[in-house]
Amino acid sequence: MSRMSSKEIFRSLSPDLVEIVQGLAEEANSRNLRLFLVGGAVRDLLLNRPIMDVDMVLEAPGAAREIVAEVARAACPQNVKIVVHGRFGTVSMESGNGKLDLALARSETYRSPGALPVVEAASLEEDLFRRDFGVNALALELFSSERRAQLEVTDPVGGLRDLDRKQLRILHSESFRDDPTRAFRAARLGPRLGFSLARGTRVALSESIAHGVFSSISGDRIRRELEKVFTDSALGLDPVKALKYLSDWGVLQALDSSLTFSSSARSPIRRLGRAVVNPPWRSSPYRPFVPGLAVWLVDLPSAVRQRVLQRLSVRGETAERIMGFARLRHRRLEGLSKARGRSAVDGVLAGIHEESLYALYAVASSAGRRQIVRWAAEDRVQRVPVTGADLVSLGLEGPALGRVLARIRAGFLDGELLNREEALTLAEELVRRASTRGKTRVRGAKKRSSKRDAE
Ligand code: CTP
Repeated sequence: MSRMSSKEIFRSLSPDLVEIVQGLAEEANSRNLRLFLVGGAVRDLLLNRPIMDVDMVLEAPGAAREIVAEVARAACPQNVKIVVHGRFGTVSMESGNGKLDLALARSETYRSPGALPVVEAASLEEDLFRRDFGVNALALELFSSERRAQLEVTDPVGGLRDLDRKQLRILHSESFRDDPTRAFRAARLGPRLGFSLARGTRVALSESIAHGVFSSISGDRIRRELEKVFTDSALGLDPVKALKYLSDWGVLQALDSSLTFSSSARSPIRRLGRAVVNPPWRSSPYRPFVPGLAVWLVDLPSAVRQRVLQRLSVRGETAERIMGFARLRHRRLEGLSKARGRSAVDGVLAGIHEESLYALYAVASSAGRRQIVRWAAEDRVQRVPVTGADLVSLGLEGPALGRVLARIRAGFLDGELLNREEALTLAEELVRRASTRGKTRVRGAKKRSSKRDAE
């Protein structure tokens, strides 16, 4: 399909964006500039898939990059949040749930492999030629009114044919040399769309790897790409498929000769992907790539894990968490297998970081996963109706107070205690026993006041 109606396009956009896109088209046309929808949005429109990101391009050869912000400011109503990004003068516009990026049509020249490109304002065609794959090098021109009901897809590189053939094809043989992260993009996009690499593209990737292109890109850039492998689960990508492609294509080995993606990591990683889409418990915010890396690397020798983390510029606490997962897995899974009762599970899992908890969940047996989910969803958030102050008023202090509070919490989790009254009776009993044994520091065991008795 090489034409689309403007109605169809506007129907597919988030309603929050329609007004912005119409405003931009009015503004661009009034200045005799051309405005295009480009990249993934056009690809997804043509494939009848939901549009995730909206990218637009303003064609203004020879113009200064400031023109993008000028057009955006003139076109957008007050409530739209506008952010101008430094290097290329790209402008993000946000309203409600909709987000749109507008950039100047530009050409890019790569001075050395993996380096950031030199950028210049250019024609739309040149802008499309600098892109990663044919299916992402399509554009649709937008007009200020619906005077053109049918819009022609601009396709200078044969992207429509690639859509038909369900393939990802680079646009020139140096593409991976210019930007090696395109290999990661292919590994994510292919499985998401159900597309495979065109033969020539696969050959070009092997040749680029043989020429060592991956040694020239920074750890931060590779890590950001791997982060997306895990966060893209939300868009329906199975991270296992992307990692398997990266392994089959030799990209992982190009990062570190001992880096593999073993079959034992598949089910846990698939589970993590599903957890991104359907969280098994209400979670505090976490970075899915941390449990992802922990689970993926856990069975590799520790020296290899260390090297890989260094290569990906993963440092500090995050690196420690991933390195420490081998030991945590061993100890906590053993603890869970022996834990009888909910308080025992609480004792095993208390204090664990959310990212390690997800990693543990991913590698646990089905019984272990049930224990983890029940603890994370219910028990760890369980509040006991007794406070430290209540225990202080019974004469407890210091570590003894902590022990009694923990005993009360365990009683509630295991269903032995049902209310505050029972908890305070137990606390008194513990205070009495301890003071007769002379172990607990009690400032003169007190009887509960009649006021509390009445509560
Ligand atoms: N692009 C590229 N090379 C890159 C990154 C981006 O050519 N290394 C181009 C592609 O044309 C891509 C567009 O910029 O379509 C927008 O990039 P991005 O938003 O990352 O990807 P989308 O294709 O829009 O994918 P998604 O649906 O995941 O947003």
